[in-house]
Amino acid sequence: MLHFSDMKSAMEEGITIIERGEGVHVFDDKGTRYIDGLSGLYCASLGHSYGDEIGAAAHEQMKKLPYATNWTVAHPPSIELAEKIASLAPDGMNKVYFTSGGSESVEAAWKMAVQWQQAMGQERRRKVIARKNSYHGVTMGALSFTGIPVCRTPFDPLGIPTVHVSNTSNYRHPHGEDEAAFCQSLLDEVEETIEFEDPSTIAMMIAEPVQNAGGCLMPPAGYWQGLREICDRHGILLCSDEVICAYGRIGTWFGGQRFDYTPDLITFAKGLTGAHFSMGGVLMHDKVAEPFFDGRADYNNGYTFGGHPTGAVVALKTIEILERENVLGNVNSNHAVAEEALNSLTDIPIVGQIRGTGHFWAIEVVRDQATREPFKGEESEDLFKNVLSEALWERGLLCRLDDRSDPIIQIAPPLIAEPELWGEITSILREGLELTASMVKAGTPPHQSATRPI
Ligand SMILES: Cc1ncc(COP(=O)(O)O)c(C=O)c1O
Repeated sequence: MLHFSDMKSAMEEGITIIERGEGVHVFDDKGTRYIDGLSGLYCASLGHSYGDEIGAAAHEQMKKLPYATNWTVAHPPSIELAEKIASLAPDGMNKVYFTSGGSESVEAAWKMAVQWQQAMGQERRRKVIARKNSYHGVTMGALSFTGIPVCRTPFDPLGIPTVHVSNTSNYRHPHGEDEAAFCQSLLDEVEETIEFEDPSTIAMMIAEPVQNAGGCLMPPAGYWQGLREICDRHGILLCSDEVICAYGRIGTWFGGQRFDYTPDLITFAKGLTGAHFSMGGVLMHDKVAEPFFDGRADYNNGYTFGGHPTGAVVALKTIEILERENVLGNVNSNHAVAEEALNSLTDIPIVGQIRGTGHFWAIEVVRDQATREPFKGEESEDLFKNVLSEALWERGLLCRLDDRSDPIIQIAPPLIAEPELWGEITSILREGLELTASMVKAGTPPHQSATRPI
């Protein structure tokens, strides 16, 4: 059974089998080539041609020591990797705890926050502040923080008490045109929510540097500094969930280096290994690590594959390649290319807001540019999912069309992409968007239905 998939359609219409990859492309079992416009799931940062080099490092490690745990003992690869990650992290973030992926990292961060609060004599602090429409994973703890109703509702009630505040979408916000007023209204809401919930019950706030779900929601200037100040004043730990943003996706190693803030906890996964191994972790600020290292608290959490030695050498090799090939430099120089290329689409009447940074972009698709009215219900299903999704797929672009909140196209190609790829992606998007716009104009109901698995 596939993840997040309509299995009836999948069985009736057939499942695409992705068989191999090369550079920024993947190929299905019929030999059709696609641009990997979402880097798999925002994780194949190096694309698909470093398997030999990374595989050779993994092979050497497997010959020497295929497995050792991080429960009470350590091994050289995880020690070396922890040191490397700390050296890349914002100042003061020096301790690393390894997991097997994003959801585990997010839950591990919450457990750290709760045990840290207990060590500070704050026994009642268990609640979390998260943001609407955010995705932090779907295991039961992480799902408590995820703010997407279709993911949460089937499994209510969720285990960790969480309150969701507004995200940073300015597109339809009453103060959206005035960045300072917009930022202030978001921060006021966080403050009011904390007061209402009682600060002495809140352990942690979690947010992504740039929120993925909802479509690359950029923080207004001053937002992260405001969150930092509010959390400090109320004794709440600030967790920056960088499962997507870390390791170059937004042009820096970590989000704090892009937006000038230092969180208490950073969760990471995906790009750490360029998706050549399933591995994640949590970076802790010295302030958070302290009670765990001075005997006030023992961290009661562990995962069999957390800090796997093969995963650790894969991650070390990935970081070596990111540095050697100046991949972050590539992302930064591609930013302007991507921005200009995607912004050229605004003449298409269903293109709403285009937002993002680095190799992380989204296009909000609307019924009407002037009123910003979104596609909804059946119309969204027909035009957005079937016509547009199908058109992009047929033209060889894998990206994601997400209508769990207002419909968006998400584009996040591998970080090694040449600038020309942005032109190619934009041409395909133009054809698909123009076709869809013409159907909206003509009021033509689409006849075929073909739900794609991503
Ligand atoms: C920001 C964020 N946090 C957490 C997760 C969960 O990661 P995983 O799917 O590895 O459990 C994701 C996955 O997409 C994510 O985007």
